[in-house]
Amino acid sequence: MGDMPEVKIAPAAGRLGVLTPGMGAVSTTFIAGVMAVRKGLEQPFGSLTQMGTIRLGKRTEERIPKIKDFVDLASLDNIVFGGWDIFEDNAYEAAVKAGALDVRLLDQVRDELESVKPMKGVFDNTYVKKLDGEYVKRGGSKWDYAQMLMEDIQRFQEDNSLDRLVMIWCGSTEIFMEPHDVHKSLEAFEQAMKDDHPAIAPSMVYAYAASKMGIPYANGAPNLTADIPAFYELAKDTQTPICGKDFKTGQTLMKTIVAPGLKARMLGLSGWFSTNILGNRDGEVLDDPESFKTKEESKLSVLDQILQPDLYPELYGDFYHKVRINYYPPRGDNKEGWDNIDIFGWLGYPMQIKINFLCRDSILAAPIVLDLALFMDLGKRAGFSGIQEWLSFYFKSPMTKPGLYPEHDLFIQQMKLKNTLRFMKGEEQITHMGADYYEYYQ
Ligand SMILES: NC(=O)c1ccc[n+]([C@@H]2O[C@H](COP(=O)([O-])OP(=O)(O)OC[C@H]3O[C@@H](n4cnc5c(N)ncnc54)[C@H](O)[C@@H]3O)[C@@H](O)[C@H]2O)c1
Repeated sequence: MGDMPEVKIAPAAGRLGVLTPGMGAVSTTFIAGVMAVRKGLEQPFGSLTQMGTIRLGKRTEERIPKIKDFVDLASLDNIVFGGWDIFEDNAYEAAVKAGALDVRLLDQVRDELESVKPMKGVFDNTYVKKLDGEYVKRGGSKWDYAQMLMEDIQRFQEDNSLDRLVMIWCGSTEIFMEPHDVHKSLEAFEQAMKDDHPAIAPSMVYAYAASKMGIPYANGAPNLTADIPAFYELAKDTQTPICGKDFKTGQTLMKTIVAPGLKARMLGLSGWFSTNILGNRDGEVLDDPESFKTKEESKLSVLDQILQPDLYPELYGDFYHKVRINYYPPRGDNKEGWDNIDIFGWLGYPMQIKINFLCRDSILAAPIVLDLALFMDLGKRAGFSGIQEWLSFYFKSPMTKPGLYPEHDLFIQQMKLKNTLRFMKGEEQITHMGADYYEYYQ
């Protein structure tokens, strides 16, 4: 144990409900994956909470426990899955349709998966133009729908004897929305829900229901949703951790791995062109220019923040950044991405880097859903509330306190996350200076 005070953390006793609005490729790959891991059929690769370790104290102490042995996280055996969709398919049917996991694996957890049935979604096709589902709540205002969601949650909690809940948005990407006056305060937001104001997207209705009930909320898509002052206020009132936006997978993950390395070595950038082909339903939704704009904004901001052109105008003051997403059905969930990176080094000599990433979107996203569920639940039990910046590690557009710029560098994000865990347990922060092992300054 370190010398710092520990944060009081309520134990992870009992059952944790994980609710996902949207039960498509990502959500069902997460659910089926956890079920397979619980049965000992597969391993939870890609999940920091399950595989990761954390160094404590000095290197000479050799204290490097697994994260899940260091902090009290909910056990996979105690997770119960639920959610909403605008199609009635149960999690088995949705997973088969999504095609991210092999049917032979799905069949091994079929009964359990079939028992996960979505509740009727809150949906409006104005916000996701490419979809139209029939399995939706009807006949109310946005305010009424929020009450219905809260009733759903209450019923789900009672039916499954749950002690705690978290909610993670795994629904489709909604159209691009600018912050509006009605987002500026909780009062204005609640009135706007009653007035059915167009600035309230369905995703916001879910986020409201969760936050109102003190249920941690994470946003896996780039939608504005909870990244508005009304939610900062509500989260504070109800002691709710919130975070987002947009799971960091695929091409952007690679970008936030490579760009910090170029910057660390002061190599310049003249252009970065990213394009990919993707054939799942997410790809189809993103084929609509308004949904793509939301995604594009999320993907574009990353390089500027990492490279800090204002501090390094000669190196990064003038690079061209282009991101394309192309819907191409034959590939299904298996995305192929190409990055062409034009860089320059000593005396301005140009060089090129090409990355061809044949990735699987939902395979990369599923462990993020798991980690967020467990860490958000930990945060709540530790008394954390409001924006959880320590979970930036998982997002393309991390939410930050207004006025703070987000950290996109994956390695800074990782340090932030691990130092937050050390802080919770009263362990010393690790700066990696390491000079105390030597005699530099005696
Ligand atoms: N897979 C990744 O690598 C990745 C990375 C970052 C973000 N995301 C985001 O995660 C989300 C889910 O991705 P996916 O591949 O599972 O997509 P998907 O299309 O397979 O699943 C989304 C599901 O949400 C449902 N839905 C849409 N609006 C809804 C609403 N209002 N209420 C309830 N259900 C609703 C759809 O019917 C669909 O079943 C997308 O927004 C995607 O952009 C995915």
